[in-house]
Amino acid sequence: MKILVTGGTGYIGSHTVVELQKKGFEVIIVDNLSNSFANVVDKIEQISGIRPAFEEFDLTDPGSTSDFFERNNDLDGIIHFAAYKAVGESVNDPLKYYRNNIGSLINILANMKTYGIENLVFSSSCTVYGQPEILPVSEDSPILQAMSPYGNTKQISEEIITDTSLVTNVKAILLRYFNPIGAHDSALIGELPLGVPNNLVPFITQTAIGIRPLLRVFGSDYNTHDGTAIRDYIHVVDLAQAHVVAVERMINHAGKKKIEIFNLGTGNGFSVLEVIHSFEKVSNEKLNYQIVDRRPGDVEIVYADTSFANDELGWKAQKTLDEMMLSAWNWEKALKTKK
Ligand code: UD1
Repeated sequence: MKILVTGGTGYIGSHTVVELQKKGFEVIIVDNLSNSFANVVDKIEQISGIRPAFEEFDLTDPGSTSDFFERNNDLDGIIHFAAYKAVGESVNDPLKYYRNNIGSLINILANMKTYGIENLVFSSSCTVYGQPEILPVSEDSPILQAMSPYGNTKQISEEIITDTSLVTNVKAILLRYFNPIGAHDSALIGELPLGVPNNLVPFITQTAIGIRPLLRVFGSDYNTHDGTAIRDYIHVVDLAQAHVVAVERMINHAGKKKIEIFNLGTGNGFSVLEVIHSFEKVSNEKLNYQIVDRRPGDVEIVYADTSFANDELGWKAQKTLDEMMLSAWNWEKALKTKK
């Protein structure tokens, strides 16, 4: 079985390639390396013993994309990760986000239609729920007005895929991720933020290792037990495994609808301070942090109702918060020794 993984040298993509290979899938990566590095392919090979095929081009380019599909018209499925993901940047440069995230999706869908490729797994985000009224948040919670162009590209992409599925043979599983963190146990692949990280966990590990002087905790006046915001953090390998299950479900025609949507989280909410304390415990490091004002656009509390994914996919996240933080720390330390 042959799977295209777009964005396969990226953070979640690279972990998914490894999990696919473990299950015997042949993988082709397409990535334009705009936010990742070609040597990730070597690392994947080091972990799995199998070198995935890799083509470097931009999926927003219709010519290169159709040329690729002409040569690879026998794909059994596509997992589409390739997208920009920085919320703040999307606010400052919305066209960059719409052009890239929507443009690449349209090119992929057009070629799926042309070549009769049926199975698509799409990276979506819990950001589509905004601040849900009911927690934990289930897949049928209302989609709220997006808070950023980035979030809007996820909402629009879900709609484009759904509309396309109505008039073609395209089927899709839309995976709404909560907060992916951590790294592979080998510490050979992990998150590689370019510049200053926006997300909490890379900021914690970079502060602890001395790259950043101080972590700012955004807000301590939320309506939560310790006043800091709550998220559902999920280990990236748990998340990667859900993609394998999803693609197998589609290939085996086990899906119940042409479009299926699953939340991928652990179902547990942790506050920012709990994440920091878990980090301090597993790393034996004291973290330099300071409480500051809320970050605009942040929601107060969000965590997943995972029962649909658990029951229907037969998948459940396994790793604890401590395990996630330890793997993130081991990855940061491995990066330092390589420098
Ligand atoms: C963010 C995006 C979300 C996107 C996801 C992708 C925003 C508003 N949301 O989610 O749309 O899908 O990343 O990974 O950017 N925090 C600190 N100090 C920091 C960094 C974060 O206190 O230096 C806090 C945040 O306020 C939040 C929590 O840590 O409460 C998690 O933040 P983050 O890792 O950025 O994820 P989200 O904001 O949940």
